[in-house]
Amino acid sequence: MKSREIRQSFLDYFANKGHNIVRSAPVIPADDPTLLFTNAGMNQFKDVFLDKGTRPYVRAADTQKCIRASGKHNDLEDVGRDTYHHTFFEMLGNWSFGDYYKVEAITWAWELLTEVWTLPKERLYATVFHDDDESFQIWQKHTDINPEHIIRFGEKDNFWEMGETGPCGPCSEIHIDLTEDGSGRSLVNVGDYRVIELWNLVFIQYNRQSDGRLEPLPKKHVDTGMGFERVAAVLQGKGSNYDTDVFKPLFDRITEITGVRYGASMDNPLDIAMRVIADHARTLTFALSDGAMPSNEGRGYVLRRILRRALRYSKNLGYNEPILHQLVGTLADSMGDVFPELTKQQDTVRKIIKAEEESFIVTLDRGIEIFNDVIEQVRSASGNTINGKDAFKLYDTYGFPFDLTRLMAADVGFEVDGEGFEHAMQQQKERARTDRKEKQHVEDDGAEWLWFSDVHRSIFSGYDQLGMQAMITGVKHVKGKLLVVLDQTPFYPESGGQVGDRGWIETGSYRLQVTDTIKDGDAIVHVIGAVFDKILDTAITPDDLAIDSNQLSAEASVDRHVRLDTERNHTATHLLHGALRRILGQHVQQKGSFVNAERLRFDFSHFSRLTNAELEEVEAEVNEQIRTSEQVIKHSEVPYDDAIAKGALAFFGDKYADNVRVVEVPGISVELCGGTHVDNIGRIGLFKIISESSVASGVRRIEALTGKTAEKLMWNEYRELQQVRHLLKAKGDESLSERVSELIEAKKELEKQLQDGKLASLLSVLTAALHASPDIGGCRIMTNVVEGVDADILRQAAFALRELLPYAAALLCSVEDGKVSLVSFASDKAVRELGLDAGKLIREAAQSVQGGGGGKPEFATAGGKNPDGIPRALELYAVSVKVALQGMNEQ
Ligand code: ALA
Repeated sequence: MKSREIRQSFLDYFANKGHNIVRSAPVIPADDPTLLFTNAGMNQFKDVFLDKGTRPYVRAADTQKCIRASGKHNDLEDVGRDTYHHTFFEMLGNWSFGDYYKVEAITWAWELLTEVWTLPKERLYATVFHDDDESFQIWQKHTDINPEHIIRFGEKDNFWEMGETGPCGPCSEIHIDLTEDGSGRSLVNVGDYRVIELWNLVFIQYNRQSDGRLEPLPKKHVDTGMGFERVAAVLQGKGSNYDTDVFKPLFDRITEITGVRYGASMDNPLDIAMRVIADHARTLTFALSDGAMPSNEGRGYVLRRILRRALRYSKNLGYNEPILHQLVGTLADSMGDVFPELTKQQDTVRKIIKAEEESFIVTLDRGIEIFNDVIEQVRSASGNTINGKDAFKLYDTYGFPFDLTRLMAADVGFEVDGEGFEHAMQQQKERARTDRKEKQHVEDDGAEWLWFSDVHRSIFSGYDQLGMQAMITGVKHVKGKLLVVLDQTPFYPESGGQVGDRGWIETGSYRLQVTDTIKDGDAIVHVIGAVFDKILDTAITPDDLAIDSNQLSAEASVDRHVRLDTERNHTATHLLHGALRRILGQHVQQKGSFVNAERLRFDFSHFSRLTNAELEEVEAEVNEQIRTSEQVIKHSEVPYDDAIAKGALAFFGDKYADNVRVVEVPGISVELCGGTHVDNIGRIGLFKIISESSVASGVRRIEALTGKTAEKLMWNEYRELQQVRHLLKAKGDESLSERVSELIEAKKELEKQLQDGKLASLLSVLTAALHASPDIGGCRIMTNVVEGVDADILRQAAFALRELLPYAAALLCSVEDGKVSLVSFASDKAVRELGLDAGKLIREAAQSVQGGGGGKPEFATAGGKNPDGIPRALELYAVSVKVALQGMNEQ
């Protein structure tokens, strides 16, 4: 049976048993912060198990794309070494949501395996949780399995959990004995490739709490998962998953690329490398097709590690070029009918993987050298452990993930000090934290807060009002500034990329100028940069202001203009985010942002520079949306799951509370966001991109302006253009750039003519001078200083002069901007017959002008800093030539 037929027959079997066939969820879980990757078929039904969500059906089946390379279920280290683990695999599953239970789950699994697929019963084993007598008896009474093949195991093997928390329950697994003589009973659950688990039937009953408690669920469910690649291997009579038709196209392609064939033996290093490359190519292709990006954090870093690990192995094949991206098309061709996203995204995915491979390959070789040096050092000190510092250096400077270093170390029988590595990493984080802290203006310099209230938290009321009465609850003096906390405030404290508000706090006697607002725990801190005494009508330094408990009542007002301009930029950032995702693709994710009243900056994942056409399209789309004048709807306190389910974009890496604030522009954008926004996008007025650049590999940055700042920029540019149009006397429809190019061309031509003219007149002067110069022993020797020519013309003139007479030599000088240029030549005969050496002569002469240079005996150039030395240089040259010629004559 072909693997695609196996997949289909599984789905057909369960469709016949009343199951709804559903699509695989993406490998990037949309709404589960406990998971980096989808690691089991049941992930998409977690809400049903936890009684938080419902489906319009009670039985479902599918094939689910899974990645197990991080967290509780992590098979990364096994990949390559054995023949039945993968970081990416398909899990065939069937589910009951409070409907059927153990009897059906067990008897159907048995029927499919032994009746439909006719696997030999005597080769199958069923394991059950040690105290699950019910399952034990079902196996015994409802199937014809050999009762001796039902084995009890403990929690480690027969209690399945999704993660550290979440749905879980006892399970019953079906294993197959692939030993030659069927003697594999003792190999069940010992991690031997000859007896492997095929199918896991989980009886979900509990929700594991973060404190470790098992909380019973209201209903009991069935969750099963069968390794598709494993069952394919068994049904195709292959000893390894990698020998099935699932992997064949990949191996064929790798052979085509590298010339290495697969299938020597299980332990063969080339086979191991090929398994790793094939597996990792699948993981990367599937993850990126679902929108993930390699990066330096979270799931992006897991993917980056996987890619680097694969590249390291591809070196074992003697192949040093990017290889993984060449497998993307193979996967799209062989699996695109089942997973259409592979076909749809293949160009994007190929590009991202290629760029990522190229950037690592540059440092890989250097890193390997460093690694080998480290190994040598450790070896010569008779050790066998790479210390944490060196491992960290490889990580930090050469991009070697820790597990890659460990893998390479293991290859040569070495270990790596993991604790030391962690320590070095912590130290670096600490340094970064200190740096950051030093930059903050509210650093802890030992000054104490003076509190007027026991409550230090502030209520933020600035979403819908910009001015209000409040009470000062705390103050603190810090380096020429005063920090003030209010019980409630309209001032937005810097967060989520939006700057803190500015404005005024007014008490009975003082006006305090707020230059920034920040958060400090639950308190909102107003940074006061200047203080005015209202009664004396003078400014006083914030240091001198002593607030006492009689003057705590204050009026807080945010600077409306600054706030509104900031809001324009913030809302525009949301529109930009949406436009980028629509135009460039769903892989675009926010990586950072900054908005103040002047401009906005938005960082996002994307693998290449945006073309002008793309920028124009993005900008046009945002402006088009602005013109729709949609309301901006702010929903406070939305349950996180609901927001995500509604498609709200979350900033990956951010931790969100259970209830979140959602900012929605109907039909245009939905984002989780705590910032302040215009009430209607029409208020943004205008959106203008001013730059696009790269911030890190795979991360681009767009800067843009809105409102009147954008208008001003456009006017400045427009005014300039009008000016140019006027100067060029260009007609309305004439292209300015063409006119300017023509002018530049014309200017170049004129300059050339000018140079030619200068050269011609210089040559005529110098020709006459050469003919008139002293003849020493039949050779004309000229020294000359010319005015107002550059080194280039001087050189060209010297070239031409050199051809004029059979016996001639000269030193020419010119001065421009205080810099001396020297050129010297000797005609062919003067060199060969008279032994003159222009290079040697110029070197001597150049010393007089505090310079240096050189060249060949025929032609040499030099430069110098001291024009006053020119007469001396010429003199020296003349004398040296004479001496040389006399020497000749005497010979
Ligand atoms: N959720 C179960 C597993 O992943 C079926 O093994």
